[in-house]
Amino acid sequence: MALAHNPEKALRTDCAGCRRCPLAEGRQQVVLSRGNPSARLMLIGEAPGAQEDASGLPFVGRSGQLLEALLVAAGLDSAQDTYICNVVKCRPPGNRKPTAAELAACRPWLDRQVELVDPALVLLLGASALDGVLGIKGGITRLRGQWRPWGSRWVMPLLHPSYLLRFGSIEPGSPRALTAADLRAVHARLKRLDDLAPPLDSGG
Ligand code: URA
Repeated sequence: MALAHNPEKALRTDCAGCRRCPLAEGRQQVVLSRGNPSARLMLIGEAPGAQEDASGLPFVGRSGQLLEALLVAAGLDSAQDTYICNVVKCRPPGNRKPTAAELAACRPWLDRQVELVDPALVLLLGASALDGVLGIKGGITRLRGQWRPWGSRWVMPLLHPSYLLRFGSIEPGSPRALTAADLRAVHARLKRLDDLAPPLDSGG
């Protein structure tokens, strides 16, 4: 009897053997995803840090804990409602930003993840995700919180949780308060997805 094809497992196996860029030399493991591959909401961050590299799971360190708290506060369950990954799957040395070459080398993995999960809504956490996915350089503080079409999906840039860690304040207008409000808007849109037409596919 032929074995059933499992695209998620195949992606994991293929990606684990990736040597498309020099980050493969320094990694402990490839960090592909956590959450629900059937979720309608996909979160894309920058790249794994030390704890992610050690555990093999994205967003489990300090910024991941803050992200988790923000998701819970917005009424979202990361295990059920989200699929979480990064634009770059291997840890850059010293947690530096991924280079343009690394973003480009890793992009086919992200494309396979998007195809697999087929999310209706996508959140881009921070400037590297904004650049790696949409090719937009800079402007995250201006663009955050705004939905834009991305092919047949809606995408929203958000401030990166590691940036939010620099600010303790939750005063109105603070980076944390703005992000909390953005995530409430995300949850609201997720709830009314079935009433909402997808964007006209602009091919982007
Ligand atoms: N920052 C990211 O962008 N991704 C992670 O997985 C962890 C920290």
